[in-house]
Amino acid sequence: MIRLGLGPRMIADGPADVVGRLADCHARIRHHLEAARLLAAAAEHDERHRATARAVHSYFTRAFPLHVEDEDGLIAPALAREDDPESRRLLDTLGDQHAQLDVLHALLVDEWSAWCEEGARPATDAHRSLLARFDALVTAHLELEERELFPRIAALPEPAREAIVTAMAAARRVRDPA
Ligand SMILES: [Fe+2]
Ligand SMILES: [Fe+2]
Repeated sequence: MIRLGLGPRMIADGPADVVGRLADCHARIRHHLEAARLLAAAAEHDERHRATARAVHSYFTRAFPLHVEDEDGLIAPALAREDDPESRRLLDTLGDQHAQLDVLHALLVDEWSAWCEEGARPATDAHRSLLARFDALVTAHLELEERELFPRIAALPEPAREAIVTAMAAARRVRDPA
């Protein structure tokens, strides 16, 4: 049968290729980061802000950690098996950045959680400064991955890429059964 303009091949929960799935995750990270910036800049905190806080909190407590786990637990070992010194250096840098992000992320999640409650106050300068550090690190990190990591993933042998996609989909079914 001829496929007519269906775009990239998809499986049940996303694109069928690893880089496409990671790129989708990065788009969602940037979307929720933008919402977090708007929340931090708001001078008031009403029901609309609480709804945004719930979406941001939900994304960063559920999906964001899964993305980091995919990279640390599936992508990094697959690339490490290729035994390329430059890939190893890149993986070390990205792993260090994940650890730094983890510390800032834990602090922010607590604040976003408080913002889901009625009576929450607008952002403080301390929150804005914390978010600015997270924002700068995430933005640089995503750009580094897209520039340096994605092409290396795309060059992995097809069976390795398919195994990663299968494991990514399984992790989401376990965590989030639909
Ligand atoms: Fe990452
Ligand atoms: Fe990433």
